[in-house]
Amino acid sequence: MKDKSLISINDYSKDEMLRVLDLAAEFEQNPSRDILSGKVIATLFFEPSTRTRLSFESAVNRLGGKIIGFSDSASSSATKGESLKDTIKTVCNYSDLIVMRHPIEGSARYASEVASVPIINAGDGANQHPTQTLLDLYSIRKTQEKLEDLNLFIVGDLKYGRTVHSLLMAMAHFNATFYFISPKELRIPAEYKMHLDHLNLKYHEYTDFRDIAGEADIIYMTRVQKERFSDPIEYEKTKNAYVLRNAMLQETRSNLKVLHPLPRVNEISTDVDDSEKAYYFTQALNGVYTRQAIISLILGLNN
Ligand code: CP
Repeated sequence: MKDKSLISINDYSKDEMLRVLDLAAEFEQNPSRDILSGKVIATLFFEPSTRTRLSFESAVNRLGGKIIGFSDSASSSATKGESLKDTIKTVCNYSDLIVMRHPIEGSARYASEVASVPIINAGDGANQHPTQTLLDLYSIRKTQEKLEDLNLFIVGDLKYGRTVHSLLMAMAHFNATFYFISPKELRIPAEYKMHLDHLNLKYHEYTDFRDIAGEADIIYMTRVQKERFSDPIEYEKTKNAYVLRNAMLQETRSNLKVLHPLPRVNEISTDVDDSEKAYYFTQALNGVYTRQAIISLILGLNN
């Protein structure tokens, strides 16, 4: 993992993912250590973010490293027409590791091909969000005390949701049974179903989940990704497809946890927030420990 970019969750084997989770658990016990002293991490966010950028920055600050970067591409020379290649080659001169979010699918892979330092993909369009997936796995393992043989309900925008695509690939290593719940316009893309078919994993597709929620170990709610729609009418048609309410959790399993990568719009009612089954804010906190683990493994500073 040392010196290797993390672009897709498929860049890590099952053992490497588990190594991140084990190290994240150690950081949770002791999140403030000086292991990044003298290191500079760049965060280049060409798209908005709250959790990903700030949890990366919190992770670095707690480990004694320094952060440079931008949170809005409008304040970078991209607005003057600078190419992504030139931006990346320049920032490599200033940093030991680059964390990048970009709206174009494949941009992170491209950046890793022109960079002289490792790149961490913090989300590339509708494609992948591997560090979110590692914190999702951490949250699932922590709440379920295992990763294997779980019923994973994934609800909402399965077409454009990059967190969904990465999570599916990761949980395929752990014999999950997948329940895909979406409007027909936002179904999980065929390539992901082909991947599950290839592995002989079970999956089901539904447009509603109220009658089957009692089967779930994890309900992973997602936002309809307004920014990915080319037709605003299509967004209007699907934006309120699902609203999870506290009453819907009454007949569910005692081990059930509700996850959401956040931000939410209105797909989880605020009356769920006080439920012991709501885990999404702790999930976001787990992002700090998980990202501390990822950074220290890539920089070879985990000993
Ligand atoms: N989960 C996630 O990527 O959140 P942000 O867009 O706030 O970073």
